[in-house]
Amino acid sequence: MKTIIEPFKIKSVEPIRFTTQKERTRILKEAYYNPFLIRAEDVLIDLLTDSGTAAMSAKQWAGMMEGDESYAGARSFFRFEAAVKKITGMKFIIPTHQGRAAEKIIFTLIGGKGKYIPNNTHFDTTRANVEFSGAEAVDFPTEEGKQPEVIAPFKGDMDIPALENFIKKTGAKNIPACFITVTNNSGGGQPVSMKNIRDTKTLLRKYNIPLFLDACRFAENAFFIKKRERGYADKSPLQIAQEMFSYADGVTMSAKKDAIVNMGGFLALNDDTLATNARNLLIITEGFPTYGGLSGRDLEAIAQGLEEVLDEHYLTYRLRSVEYLGNKLTDAGVPILQPPGGHAIYIDAKNFLPHIPPNQYPGQAIVAELYQAGGIRSVEIGSVMFGKYGKDGKLISPPMELVRLAIPRRVYTQSHIDYVSEVVIEVFQRRNTLKGYKITYEAPQLRHFTAHFKMM
Ligand code: F0G
Repeated sequence: MKTIIEPFKIKSVEPIRFTTQKERTRILKEAYYNPFLIRAEDVLIDLLTDSGTAAMSAKQWAGMMEGDESYAGARSFFRFEAAVKKITGMKFIIPTHQGRAAEKIIFTLIGGKGKYIPNNTHFDTTRANVEFSGAEAVDFPTEEGKQPEVIAPFKGDMDIPALENFIKKTGAKNIPACFITVTNNSGGGQPVSMKNIRDTKTLLRKYNIPLFLDACRFAENAFFIKKRERGYADKSPLQIAQEMFSYADGVTMSAKKDAIVNMGGFLALNDDTLATNARNLLIITEGFPTYGGLSGRDLEAIAQGLEEVLDEHYLTYRLRSVEYLGNKLTDAGVPILQPPGGHAIYIDAKNFLPHIPPNQYPGQAIVAELYQAGGIRSVEIGSVMFGKYGKDGKLISPPMELVRLAIPRRVYTQSHIDYVSEVVIEVFQRRNTLKGYKITYEAPQLRHFTAHFKMM
């Protein structure tokens, strides 16, 4: 087979700024070893997130000029609404400025004290929005989903027996909705199988609990189903996505991922009353229901992006470019969460730095060193992001300590990725010299964004 190439050519370029190692040592120290606090222009290759960092196509940019900026009933809204309906089949499409705004609205309506929201794995903002409403966020990843080195096709799946036990114990009336996140971001960008979505829905139907999809990366998930699940090889990504959404009663989506735009999101619902209440909240917090928190031009770009993301050449290139980085690291012995996910490679920090315990944040040590060594920005997904304190003040760590190298869509070429792998491998070879960190400042919620660190 020939090399899988980028299914586009480059029309507009953006220079990246080179820094010296000495400069980076200073910059990192000034940022308290937290890459969120580094200026983007001081970063050479930015793998902090795949969210809102995509390169838009010529057609999306052209759509920006077509944007109808009318306050009410804009043409761009109807194009956006049609694009979302075609894929999700939902009755009510409510635009929001990004994913967490949709989450805030839905959890304000259905959350609250005494309520529980199950998910295969909540992402940080989703968990925070559930908890902010007073409800409790509970994760049900499968056993294999918690083991970084196990190779399995659908490690993003929901643990359905565990979910059923939980429903029996908690009582269905205390569970206003159950979510499935596709792909499972905090669990390694791993896909969820169609069977798992279908079986989860069957279980929830029995208890009359609605199923929501957190659908940020639905197209990547659909393409994994096409490649890995029996019966889907001959279906188009659109058909597969449509079937995934057919099991859902609602959708939250950050368009900053699989709509290939820099800003946007939506909440999609089938229930009339819930949709009316959501729109009323939307008007208070985001804007009129035909624009939400967005400009007409943003709605145009989303509509176009949703079409482009389901193109098979695009998805082949997308999954392959992530796998390419994963294979290079694996060949050099770097422990990563296997198999490579859809939007990112996750370094297994526990195995990378076995001499640094979770309460000294091994993931953060790798993140700091990748910046220092090569100007690469990545993010810790482990005890910094999800750590909690017990009653005794001791850190309770999540099951995995990961470092995410998220690949922005259509932004970096193969040589950028080659460079990234060279830096990671170089750091891996001198891993014994890395030290742990301690936190010197933290906010009460989502502490990873603003925390300060000190090297031990
Ligand atoms: N759900 C998932 C699974 C996400 O990955 C994100 C964002 C959101 C919801 C919230 O969307 O940012 O538009 O408000 N994830 C980004 C990331 C930030 O880096 O993975 P948002």
